[in-house]
Amino acid sequence: MADKQLFVTSLSDLGDGEVKQVIVRNMCLAAYRVGEAVYVTSGVCTHGHALMADGYLDGYEIECPLHQGRFDIRTGVPMCAPVTVALESFPVEVVDGNVYLQALDGAAVERQAENVAT
Ligand code: FES
Repeated sequence: MADKQLFVTSLSDLGDGEVKQVIVRNMCLAAYRVGEAVYVTSGVCTHGHALMADGYLDGYEIECPLHQGRFDIRTGVPMCAPVTVALESFPVEVVDGNVYLQALDGAAVERQAENVAT
């Protein structure tokens, strides 16, 4: 495991079909589990100030709780109006039942930390 990997959650705390909010290095993120696959995106909707962890996960799509915009959790790409800007998507690795973010660049940390502060 590389030094820069950051713990997100254990698989036992994230059930199949669930989404949960996680804070990693002051970044507000959303972690999703579909079967054995785990995905992590930025945790705040790009349309307004809604938490993706409060949304509805349907397969690989998360629906924002505020205006029902939908994103593909695998890529962060918006799927329907009113969202037009993608969520940031983060590569993850599962090691011994724990989910880790792979190396982050400093810009990603800054962008997501701003979401927590606002
Ligand atoms: S705040 Fe998420 S769709 Fe408007």
